[in-house]
Amino acid sequence: MSIPTGPAGPLRFPDTFGWGAATSAYQIEGATKEDGRGESVWDTFSRVPGRTRNGDTGDVAIDHYHRYAEDLDLMRDLGLRSYRFSISWPRIQPDGTGTPNQRGLDFYRRLLDGLHERGITPMATLFHWDLPQALQDAGGWESRDTAQRFADYADVVFRALGDRVPAWLTINEPKTVVQNGYLTGHHAPGRRDPDAAYLVAHHLQLAHGLAVGALRATGSDSRIGPALNLHPCYPADDSPQAAAAAHLYDGYENRLYLDSVLRGSYPEDLLADLGPHSRMAQGIRDGDLKIISAPIDLLAVQYYTPIYVTADGGTAHRWATSEAEWQQIYPEGMYDLLTRVTRDYGPIPLTITENGLPTPDTLGTDDTVQDNGRITFLRDHLTAAHRAIADGVPLESFHVWSLLDNFEWDQGYDQRWGLVYVDYATQRRVLKNSAVWYRSVIADGGF
Ligand code: FCB
Repeated sequence: MSIPTGPAGPLRFPDTFGWGAATSAYQIEGATKEDGRGESVWDTFSRVPGRTRNGDTGDVAIDHYHRYAEDLDLMRDLGLRSYRFSISWPRIQPDGTGTPNQRGLDFYRRLLDGLHERGITPMATLFHWDLPQALQDAGGWESRDTAQRFADYADVVFRALGDRVPAWLTINEPKTVVQNGYLTGHHAPGRRDPDAAYLVAHHLQLAHGLAVGALRATGSDSRIGPALNLHPCYPADDSPQAAAAAHLYDGYENRLYLDSVLRGSYPEDLLADLGPHSRMAQGIRDGDLKIISAPIDLLAVQYYTPIYVTADGGTAHRWATSEAEWQQIYPEGMYDLLTRVTRDYGPIPLTITENGLPTPDTLGTDDTVQDNGRITFLRDHLTAAHRAIADGVPLESFHVWSLLDNFEWDQGYDQRWGLVYVDYATQRRVLKNSAVWYRSVIADGGF
């Protein structure tokens, strides 16, 4: 196989660097009706005709629930040091509340034991969008009570699995729930209601803070933090109008989530833009920001794309896009983002919990997948991350999205993001060229 060659000179990462890959429960597990699992909003949403490409659902996904041992062996063979996965809330509390479902907890305990046996450090996300449908029926994230339900669920999980998990992530990409779930409506629960969207943002942030408090209350010394998808927002031209528009855009994309957790305040410009009568403004109670800004131990950053903001507040494309039409390929954005977070918010330990590219992968007759575009993408982004480390950014680890091809939400199974190819007809796993490359990067500590 031919692998693109790297930039001049070897690039070496710290010996302790956490080379990893990421997945999430609904995207890989399948087995949606087994062992007492309840329904999630994604079960409901994906069943509505027209919501997902080809009507795809996560009912079977890549059958990880049954094949987890094989997948663990794959991770070991790649040499992964860190594996980021998510726990399915409706497996633990089928209706989102009350007595935990032991069979659900047992699955994750088997998975965690398997990781430890193979010397792979787990990083567990508590919520990667699969809200129990029963909670949605009671108002979902528009209801303040859902934040408390999340804290209760987190407490159950911390007590049952905490001895096996050194690092917890609370909520995956609250912004995507806000934007895709409540602004554009192309993710569950499929709403288009801007006023509701920012109330949802506040409740997601509150849920995060309450979960941090719940972990501390157990006396655990595991680490915890949020998982934020951050987008550097650049002005599309040199005008002062574009600069101002990019700044406000940055408020909605980044500072809303960063400032509330790390500074204990929402950005003034964003609150002014939403207005004092917005449901968000009305929904913030005394003490909420203190809860939201409870000290965290690490900040998980997910980087896929920059955004270029025009003078009128719209967006422009500057770089090549991928199969995901929202993604522009700009590795420098990784450097800008990492250094900005450290500069603006201090030297908090960082992990990249997602970075990756969808490519039109096909399985060749020789049983290989020539995804060399993914190798170039990862090499360029890792190079930018390395430069950020050299410039003082405390970046500890990097997780490719994704370990395996999987259910890409509204895009169904058409978009392949994995290092490992999945033949959906047989569920056979085949290492793509990028997986072979990543294995050698991990073994060498760089490239
Ligand atoms: C992120 C999601 C992840 C996956 C990638 C492509 O926004 O967290 O589940 O869909 O995008």
